[in-house]
Amino acid sequence: MKTVLALLVLTAFTQAAKFPPNFKKCNRRDPDADKCYLEAAQIGIHEATKYYSQIGLASLAPLEITELKIGAGSQGVVNVDQNFKNCKLYGIDDVKLSEFGFDFEEKALHGRGVLPEIKMLCEYELNGRILLLPIVGTGPSTIILKNINVTARFDYNEVPKNGKTYFSFISNKLTLDPEFVSFNFENLFNGDKQLGDNINKVLNENFKEVFADVQPGYEKGLGLVLQQIINNLFSKVSAEEALD
Ligand SMILES: *[C@@H]1O[C@H](CO)[C@@H](O)[C@H](O)[C@H]1NC(C)=O
Repeated sequence: MKTVLALLVLTAFTQAAKFPPNFKKCNRRDPDADKCYLEAAQIGIHEATKYYSQIGLASLAPLEITELKIGAGSQGVVNVDQNFKNCKLYGIDDVKLSEFGFDFEEKALHGRGVLPEIKMLCEYELNGRILLLPIVGTGPSTIILKNINVTARFDYNEVPKNGKTYFSFISNKLTLDPEFVSFNFENLFNGDKQLGDNINKVLNENFKEVFADVQPGYEKGLGLVLQQIINNLFSKVSAEEALD
């Protein structure tokens, strides 16, 4: 009897530990469902910053990314692969969503909003050319994006498991339109400060051109990271649990 009770308590505990706290449920037939999804997403993002790491979900404050590879641009401005490691992204949790919801016919989750600022701290490795100038180095980097208009769409499949249905997100389309971008790559050219400062200055004076060339790379990289986070969340919450 005691063992059974202990088992029951343990099961209840692990189940509670697996399910995100304060998860807001919405009714898909509610005419105001979109309002509910928007609220649920804002609450979810808020919870993610506080509790998600305790239940094995990614925290968003900061969002940690072990590896982020952004390929060279296509217009010849940024002729270098940007290899980032051990990134910390600050500001994702400050997103102000204006729209968020499911499209059940198209099997997609979509959102739109504004991010006041993303600060991305990483270790970088660069070896190539930007704006025809050689750029070589490895060290800490800080990239700041401001007033970013974001749209996102994540397509899913419905996967039946243990009598429930789970959303499995299979692709994404993310757009990031920042008003302002700044770059700071420390320790360029083996620590040659004058050369490094000059390159950073050129990058910042031409941030529009530079960012535009690698924008698809950033969109793909961040899109994939967010897709993984959403997948982790929805591997813990079935459609039946998430929606009425
Ligand atoms: C973001 O969207 C707003 C409203 O549509 C627009 O006024 C603004 O110019 C956009 N900003 C960028 C950086 O695209």
